[in-house]
Amino acid sequence: MAPSKSRIKVAVIGAGAAGLCAGRHLIAEPNQFQFDIYEQQDDVGGTWRYSTHIGQDQYGLPVHSSMYKNLRTNLPKEVMAYPGFPFEECEGRSFLHHTEVLKYLQDYAKHYGLYEYIKFHKLVENIRPLKQEDGSVEWAVSISDVVTKEKETYIYDAVMVCNGHYSVPYMPEIEGLNDFKGHMIHSHDYRDPQDFKDLKVVVLGAGASGIDIAIEVSKVAKEVILSHNTPPKTCPLPENTRQEKGIESIGEASVTFIGGKKYECDAMIICTGYLYYYPFLDPSCNVKIGDQHISPLYLHTFLIDYPTLGIWAVPKLIVPFPIYDQQTKVFLKFLKGQIQLPSPEEMRAEMEKDFTCRLEAGFKPRHAHLMPGEWQWEFDDALSKLGRIDPLPPVVRNLFRHVHHLRTLDVVHYKDTNYNLIDNETFKQVDN
Ligand SMILES: Cc1cc2nc3c(=O)[nH]c(=O)nc-3n(C[C@H](O)[C@H](O)[C@H](O)COP(=O)(O)OP(=O)(O)OC[C@H]3O[C@@H](n4cnc5c(N)ncnc54)[C@H](O)[C@@H]3O)c2cc1C
Ligand SMILES: NC(=O)c1ccc[n+]([C@@H]2O[C@H](COP(=O)([O-])OP(=O)(O)OC[C@H]3O[C@@H](n4cnc5c(N)ncnc54)[C@H](OP(=O)(O)O)[C@@H]3O)[C@@H](O)[C@H]2O)c1
Repeated sequence: MAPSKSRIKVAVIGAGAAGLCAGRHLIAEPNQFQFDIYEQQDDVGGTWRYSTHIGQDQYGLPVHSSMYKNLRTNLPKEVMAYPGFPFEECEGRSFLHHTEVLKYLQDYAKHYGLYEYIKFHKLVENIRPLKQEDGSVEWAVSISDVVTKEKETYIYDAVMVCNGHYSVPYMPEIEGLNDFKGHMIHSHDYRDPQDFKDLKVVVLGAGASGIDIAIEVSKVAKEVILSHNTPPKTCPLPENTRQEKGIESIGEASVTFIGGKKYECDAMIICTGYLYYYPFLDPSCNVKIGDQHISPLYLHTFLIDYPTLGIWAVPKLIVPFPIYDQQTKVFLKFLKGQIQLPSPEEMRAEMEKDFTCRLEAGFKPRHAHLMPGEWQWEFDDALSKLGRIDPLPPVVRNLFRHVHHLRTLDVVHYKDTNYNLIDNETFKQVDN
């Protein structure tokens, strides 16, 4: 049930790309919404706030950012931008350095006047539903100040959970993992390729982190092995880089790949991804996180039992900023009572159907929120239909498809290509 108040009070958790997008739409309707954004750090940007530190920050919080020194975007800025807020020119480059994305997010927050709504250094510790006699739900949001440690609790009508999900490393269970005596890190703690100069390095996992880190480490390392269980990459890799199957076991100075081949190495970079992590959701929210599967969520966003709580950024392999914008528009329309959600039973049935379709299509159960290929656009279509909003423009979809294809052909150089958007459907590749 949507709140029936004249001004709906919304708590936003996190001031990264998703939380800022929430703020941008909430601030646009001051007669409808009142809101606060809680952010544990001292500025906006979330994972784009690169830090040379690893481990804990000065307040004892785990370092949030997984950015590394040389990271450039893997999407062109023409696709990456929020609708209606393009990136600055950036000397004609499409694939930007992470510092340029942080500046973009800071500019976005300034442009829409969001800073004064963000309560910095506030760690959200608990969120719990308070059932009202009329059947509606309010939310108790408990926060602590990371500097003074003072605790407070405030009541809201709705909660937008935008805490990100690329901060808590997933470490696979591999026999002998703790016996390795060389240099071993997770990609969350990777910063600088120079740490691997002249070493024989095994990079485990061939998602975006594994591939990008293997390529940049190969420039200084003696040899790089990209070890993974996905089909072998068919495009050229750097000369000193080759592929092997995933790892079966690890010794003090070696790894054994699936199939039995042993390889002596000096270092390992574990690029096996991240865990969804919502430690502040009270058990009474009834959110279950199985094997990379959050439930019960309708359209990967609305908490089915209490749909005035939404979780952002659950889908993976998406165009994050534009999809956050779509999710936000639909969620706020629901809060305003402009659209209705199906009944809890229908939402649950749709959620289960989505999961079954994935399994039937050959996905692993842990890929419950993965949106490869056309899945992302079907998700956008479903969201847009529910919210009665326009889906993302064809040019975003077309350029995303083009870049995805280019990446499979030339993963080493695709970021050197630049683009211009011509109209709602068309883009143009620009000569360097
Ligand atoms: C290495 C890497 C490279 C990437 N490259 C690209 C790219 O090229 N293009 C692209 O579009 N996307 C990229 N992404 C995806 C990126 O995650 C999204 O673009 C987007 O920045 C995610 O925004 P978010 O708001 O969901 O999460 P985050 O950016 O993680 O922000 C979450 C915020 O919530 C705050 N927070 C967390 N818990 C609490 C709490 N309990 N209380 C208060 N505050 C809290 C955090 O401090 C943080 O500021 C990349 C991600 C990584 C890790
Ligand atoms: N801008 C850039 O260039 C850039 C660079 C890095 C990261 N990123 C972004 O950062 C986010 C996270 O990417 P990510 O690559 O860290 O995580 P990810 O996309 O979850 O990829 C992790 C990979 O590791 C694999 N894996 C897990 N356990 C494994 C094991 N035991 N053995 C072998 N492989 C294993 C996973 O396979 P399964 O899925 O089968 O488990 C998956 O392919 C994404 O949004 C990505 O786009 C961007």
